[in-house]
Amino acid sequence: MKKLTAVLLLTVATVTTFSPVLAAVSDTIAVIGTGRVGGALGPRFAELGHTVVYGSRTPEADRVQRLVARTGTDASAASQFEAAQQADLIMLAVPWDATEEVIKNLGNLDGKIIMDATNALDMADDGMLEVSVDTSAGELIQSWAPGAFVVKTFNNVNDTIMADPAGIDGPVTVPLAGNNLEAKKRVQEIVTAMGFHSVNAGPIRMARVLEGMVVLKLAPMFEGRHDERWEYYFRPHPQTSDVEPPAR
Ligand SMILES: NC(=O)c1ccc[n+]([C@@H]2O[C@H](COP(=O)([O-])OP(=O)(O)OC[C@H]3O[C@@H](n4cnc5c(N)ncnc54)[C@H](OP(=O)(O)O)[C@@H]3O)[C@@H](O)[C@H]2O)c1
Repeated sequence: MKKLTAVLLLTVATVTTFSPVLAAVSDTIAVIGTGRVGGALGPRFAELGHTVVYGSRTPEADRVQRLVARTGTDASAASQFEAAQQADLIMLAVPWDATEEVIKNLGNLDGKIIMDATNALDMADDGMLEVSVDTSAGELIQSWAPGAFVVKTFNNVNDTIMADPAGIDGPVTVPLAGNNLEAKKRVQEIVTAMGFHSVNAGPIRMARVLEGMVVLKLAPMFEGRHDERWEYYFRPHPQTSDVEPPAR
């Protein structure tokens, strides 16, 4: 009986711990970081009807207050901790070097969805970019906030295109990686409402590939070909093959 009670308790605990907060149609989104990415996405989230609270080291600064003003009447700015605690969804838009400390200072993140745009990149000896961690930024963030639902998103879209997806001729794909399907679905709703095409790229481990895609995408720039810019589009491929797959 003791064993059964323990199992039941474990089941309840698991359900409670591992179910993302079911998001309402309009959410409060904490945008942590008020630079290029935060400043591009915050106003777009607000356009969709979400309440945006920026998490900043200097929420009172003129620059941040101007961003708040252009985001809309419901927007505000607070410390990174206060912003994260007000929201069920967090948009992480800080430099990679600061990310571990930022995550650890955001307080209890259990049950929250973290939309992670960070890229752990360094310059290699040949002057090109390379991924600077053995796994990925997405996986490390998930390990620093184990009770949260990390969804890799927007990491390989340029901030000008985040602000205006129509600024490029044709659709742009935002691949999503994360371990929780409900969380990914919620993020996908937001991403597609913003005018992007989106695909489910699998578990958070796939962030390794999504972060590597940034190295590829920025290759022309690091070779000095500044007029050559790419965005990704995964063209849907409905065709099925008649060939029977080999037995595994
Ligand atoms: N720019 C792009 O096109 C792009 C595209 C995809 C992904 N990304 C990734 O997104 C992340 C943000 O990029 P970004 O271009 O927006 O960077 P950014 O313009 O440098 O802005 C980052 C913001 O993070 C906050 N911040 C800076 N240093 C911090 C620190 N030590 N501790 C805590 N917060 C700090 C600052 O906001 P406050 O001053 O308000 O605190 C700053 O404005 C990076 O990881 C980048 O790789 C960038």
